[in-house]
Amino acid sequence: MPGFATRAIRAAGRTPDAPQPPVNVPLYQTSTFEVSSAGELADLLEFRTPGHSYSRYSNPTFAALEAALAELEGGEAAVVSASGMAAIHAALVSTLRPGDEVLAAPALYGGTYALLTGLLARFGIGARFLPLTDAASVGEAMTDRTRLIWAETIANPTTEMADLAALADLAHRRDALLFVDNTFASPYLCNPLALGADLVVHSLTKYVGGHSDLIAGAVIGPAERVAAARHVLIDAGGNSQPLEAFLALRGLKTLAIRMERHATNALTVACALEGRATIRRVLYPGLRSHPQHELVARELRDGLAGGMLALDLEGGRDAGERFLGQLRVARHATSLGSVETLCSHPASSSHRQLGEEELAAAGLTPGLVRVSIGLEDADDLVEDLAAAAG
Ligand SMILES: Cc1ncc(COP(=O)(O)O)c(C=O)c1O
Repeated sequence: MPGFATRAIRAAGRTPDAPQPPVNVPLYQTSTFEVSSAGELADLLEFRTPGHSYSRYSNPTFAALEAALAELEGGEAAVVSASGMAAIHAALVSTLRPGDEVLAAPALYGGTYALLTGLLARFGIGARFLPLTDAASVGEAMTDRTRLIWAETIANPTTEMADLAALADLAHRRDALLFVDNTFASPYLCNPLALGADLVVHSLTKYVGGHSDLIAGAVIGPAERVAAARHVLIDAGGNSQPLEAFLALRGLKTLAIRMERHATNALTVACALEGRATIRRVLYPGLRSHPQHELVARELRDGLAGGMLALDLEGGRDAGERFLGQLRVARHATSLGSVETLCSHPASSSHRQLGEEELAAAGLTPGLVRVSIGLEDADDLVEDLAAAAG
């Protein structure tokens, strides 16, 4: 089988049925498609025949992105969505019923936490949070109501890693499912379906897009589960947009080379900052000191530990704010996975939905700053981040 970069470049430029195929998938900036009969339209709307009817249901630019993502994640099918949150919502709502319960780690993206504890709780879906790093205690915590385990390959923002193969095995032995948010790893570093996961979601806004210029998401996995998620997206209007899908296709073509540079830069920065007096801990899975360091070799491609790290600064929240105010190369902004280095203070931004106790359970100390390492020269990043840390 050709390598990832070859497959990504081929798949992201594949336009079906064109006599002289363009090397880039055209941007089908259209809301609707002309048909020749009422019967044809009815068949298209019900997905009984291939083709497109209305861009809330499908669109050729989305279809090209979906085929590429399914191929690169090793799934039967994929559906793209308005955002990573729309994908997470569709994955959960298409699977869960009132009375079901989800188990998730306390360290997870704040938006997912808010969805589970807010909107889904109102509809009778329960959620319990416990570290997923200890498979035995996860097994003990499962009940007859536990319908699924929700894991992030590398957790936002603490970079805690989940043993996906062990969690899949645990879930399946109890007739439950494992869904994985693979945003931090990207399809280049990890393919959770191959490790036993039942469904994968991405915020394409991050590494797949890679340039901080689009918002989109995707659900990838077995055809039946993806079709169910697609129906939620259609009913709730969570579809992607043609321009976003076009940009995500362009991003996919360079994903492999970007992820390699993100990871080598991140390791250089993490090694340079570890042990500095002003930094209590550098959390990066590529460091030997990381509690799940051994999972990097088992789960991630070529031992590359991704581009996300967290710095736990001495001096709490004030130190965090000072750090963000002194950056000259990196930028203070929420989001991640882009060419430019982005730093944020999770407790007051991406994870502001968590209360004091939940923040503590997630290991989110007041002085913790999240760093999404970009593609700048590593020496410039080390100098900038070290100077900001003091
Ligand atoms: C791990 C993770 N999953 C999902 C999301 C949500 O993605 P989006 O902002 O595209 O809805 C984010 C956003 O930061 C994230 O970090």
